[in-house]
Amino acid sequence: MHPALNIAIKAARRAGQIINRASNDLDSLKVASKQPNDFVTEVDRTAEAAIIETLQEAYPHYAILAEETGHTAARSGQEAEYQWIIDPLDGTTNFIHGMPQYAISIALAKGNVIEQAVVYDPNRNELFTATKGAGAFLNERRIRVSRRLKLGEALIGTGFPYRELGHLDTYLAIFRELVEKTAGQRRPGAASLDLAYVACGRYDGFWEFGLSPWDMAAGALLISEAGGLVSDLRGDANYLDTGNIVAGTPKVFAPMLKLIQDRLPESLLNRG
Ligand code: IPD
Ligand code: CA
Repeated sequence: MHPALNIAIKAARRAGQIINRASNDLDSLKVASKQPNDFVTEVDRTAEAAIIETLQEAYPHYAILAEETGHTAARSGQEAEYQWIIDPLDGTTNFIHGMPQYAISIALAKGNVIEQAVVYDPNRNELFTATKGAGAFLNERRIRVSRRLKLGEALIGTGFPYRELGHLDTYLAIFRELVEKTAGQRRPGAASLDLAYVACGRYDGFWEFGLSPWDMAAGALLISEAGGLVSDLRGDANYLDTGNIVAGTPKVFAPMLKLIQDRLPESLLNRG
């Protein structure tokens, strides 16, 4: 196993312990709102600090982009070629409500290329990992996207818009069409896990608008290493920048992207 992946797993498990402990005492949880419908707890912050400490101890010359603390330059003071992209608790709203669907997501990027990925579900003790060029794994067993061929048989994951509601009507028009044309849609509430579920074949596709890089970076590598496809709304690779993502098995991805593109206003399509 690549040493950086090993350290990322150690960091994710450490955060998982913090989150699991806190989940036993949700009544005393202090919740703050970063913006409407965007919450943070001291658990997000403590878990993030533990992850950053673990990663920086091993890699002081790497930069960090994390949900709660934003960008941190490399501790060594050098210009960083590598950057960790971290979501310490993806699915904070679920966590606050005691819904056991959330994860820790850690990716390592070299420039724009994601090289290592960890998505850890501390409720089910499911550890999804990938290294670029070396495949994707769930608890050390190789995973692949599903073999489902038709959109009509596909189970699709999604995320409802809830912060930025400007494109809600577009979202609902696509949602409606996919209700009619697929086997069903799910919105569990943790995008990194949704992407991991595409990678291991539980879903055949996933789409969401307005995500942040830390929601997607690790999950996207899991999918491509598991044989799936990931893009932005134009079918290009800029989803970390645009925040809009479409993913799926090779056969489901193309008709799904086309269906979505056909219902997008020019402004969204051009953004990608
Ligand atoms: C959120 C979850 C959710 C998605 C949101 C994300 P957070 O992350 O991944 O599924 O729909 O867009 O922001 O805020 O709980 O870390
Ligand atoms: Ca998140």
